[in-house]
Amino acid sequence: MFHLVKRFFGFLTATSPSPRDQLFVSQSLAPNLQRLFYAQRIEDQRHAITVATRVRGRPHLVEAALMHDIGKTTIGLGAFGRAFATLWGLTYLPIWGEWLRYLSHGPIGADLLEAHNATASAVAFARYHSGVPPSGFDTNDWYALEDADHA
Ligand SMILES: [Fe+2]
Repeated sequence: MFHLVKRFFGFLTATSPSPRDQLFVSQSLAPNLQRLFYAQRIEDQRHAITVATRVRGRPHLVEAALMHDIGKTTIGLGAFGRAFATLWGLTYLPIWGEWLRYLSHGPIGADLLEAHNATASAVAFARYHSGVPPSGFDTNDWYALEDADHA
């Protein structure tokens, strides 16, 4: 839960990727994925770079880290709408519209990544993140990504 509060304030104070961050992104992603990456809100770009920096020691995970929340690109909610959806989602009560789409950003993003020929790891992490590792995904890699996302 603490990571959600931290994420909320991080969202409000996010800054654009620095030239150094942009170099990291360009060295880590194919051009079509870079375009997708920069279609994200600045706040989501910042979060993705933070997550990717934390798994830098496992270079094969960097694409998954940079692209895992890409499904949020298609959803028109700001910080408060996202916070509401997240908290409401914890109640398991019915939810609809953009809030439901926000809570479904994983599968939405995974489909988008599949259509852009992302790696299988990036597609799987986008689809199932904040859950248990899907079969075939190295458990250590999975939890390295999960920990980086929630730190
Ligand atoms: Fe995330």
